[in-house]
Parts: sequence; C-alpha cells; structure tokens
Amino acid sequence: MNSIMLGPAKRIMMCKPTHYQVKYQINPWMNVKRRADNERAQKQWLELKATIEKCGATVEVMEPEGAENLPDIVFCANAAIIRGKRAYVSHFAHRQREGEHVFYEKWLKSKGYQTFYNDNIRHEGTGDALWCSQGMNTLISGVGTRSDMRAAADIRTKMNQEGKDDFQVVCARLVDPRFYHIDVCFCPLNENLALFYPNAFDPVSQNNMKNYTTMLEVPEKDALKFACNAVVIGKNVILHEGAKETEKMLEMNGFIPHAVDMSEFLKAGGSSKCCTLRLE
Ligand code: ARG
Repeated sequence: MNSIMLGPAKRIMMCKPTHYQVKYQINPWMNVKRRADNERAQKQWLELKATIEKCGATVEVMEPEGAENLPDIVFCANAAIIRGKRAYVSHFAHRQREGEHVFYEKWLKSKGYQTFYNDNIRHEGTGDALWCSQGMNTLISGVGTRSDMRAAADIRTKMNQEGKDDFQVVCARLVDPRFYHIDVCFCPLNENLALFYPNAFDPVSQNNMKNYTTMLEVPEKDALKFACNAVVIGKNVILHEGAKETEKMLEMNGFIPHAVDMSEFLKAGGSSKCCTLRLE
C-alpha cells in the first residue's frame, strides 16, 4: 500500500478565542446560562499553545477576523480533514457553525492547500475523522450525530492524490449524545495504539475499531473530563487536567501526559484537541 507517512505532529493550526462564548446549545455540555469567561479562556488557550510549543510543534495561528458571530470557530479541529496538501473542508451539521467553513477554507488556501467542500454532505472535519493504524492509512470517521456516512466515499475520492495515496475510510457509529464527535471518545496515540471510551460507540463499531488499532480503554469518569480529546505530539499527550487513571495508563505505555486547564472550553463541549488542527 502506498502511503503518505504521518509522523509526529510538527505544525498545528489554532484559531484565537477572540469571539469565544457559549451563545447557543448544540451539544449537551452547552448551557447558555453557564457562560464562558472569555478572559480566562484566552489565558487557557495561550497556556495550551505554549505547552504544544514546549512539546516541539509549531503553532500557526488563524485570526478570526470578521467571525464575531461564530463563537465556536476556536474549535478548529472541525475545520477540515488534512491529507498531504489536500483539505476536505467541513460542512457543519448545525446552522450556528455553518459560516465557519468560509474562514477555514480561506486560511487553508492561503497556506497552499487544495481544498474540497461538499455542499450536499455534512462532515465535521477531524472532529469526526482520525487517522490511525499502520502507516496512518485508516481514517476512522464518527457518524450518527454530526457527520454523514456518505462522506466516507467522497473523502476517499477527493483526498486520494492522483490515485497514489491508498487509504481506507471506516465509519464508527456514535451513540451517546455527550460524545457527539469522535475526537471526544477516541484518540490515536501512534500507528498501533489509541485511547478509546467504548460506550460512546455501538457494539459493532466498538469491535470493528479494534481491527485497526489496539485500544487503551478510558474509564467513564475520565472520558467525561475529555481525556480522549488530547493533542498528541510524539510521546507527549496534552489533555485537560484531572483524568488521573488515563494519565497513569499513558505513562505505563511510555507516553508523557501534560495536564492543562481547559475548563472554559469544556463549557462548550470541547477541550485541547478540539482547539487544534494538525497540518501534516
Ligand atoms: N461547541 C462546539 C460544537 O458543538 C464544540 C466543538 C468541539 N470540537 C470537537 N472537535 N470535538 O460543535
């Protein structure tokens, strides 16, 4: 199988939380009565950025200029799926986030990406699709809440560079509304290993996913602290504080956990990984 080898993340996109706020409710974590403290969120975001840089990756920042009415644009994991120099830009499920794709697409184009957008099929980027398995040649896509199963074939056609980059797209069905994106319940750590909260998936998907990678099962209490929503940079794993069992499990497997406070972002249903997009 020919492949584009995906090494440790070296370049990561982040979007400034300038307009971040909880202004609507599109997942069970959001409650307009529990507003986010934007000033605190900015500090947490800067701390996350500094931690990512300390772990050896470069952060490329998107300024959300003109995106005043898009408070969730900080969650740029939902911008697109990236493969080489191609970007499959998201078509959001909820109208509240629909406008974001224009900003992401413009930014990705300015960085030299060839972009694709499907007007008929909804898919929420790497929030709902993660590379894993040997050669990072399998894209596991969460379906059932936000992203459409029909995207699998479309992604494969558009992202397969001149037919040379052979990869497969596998769908996994999300069944627990609290885990509405795959990146809040599944986190590939390298080609062979991943964090996973099984009950977020239906039983068929739980079993099927194990065909592609070995799973380290995260307990529910850690999953609810967004332990699976971690930024992985080589052996470094950056996650929201308090997921003690997961941190131990990571250490036992040779990884270095870095706990950061993402509490203001948890109010919108996101944590560290949601605020990042791997650019290679
Ligand atoms: N409030 C946002 C939403 O519901 C949070 C997105 C989190 N992003 C992610 N990749 N899980 O869409």
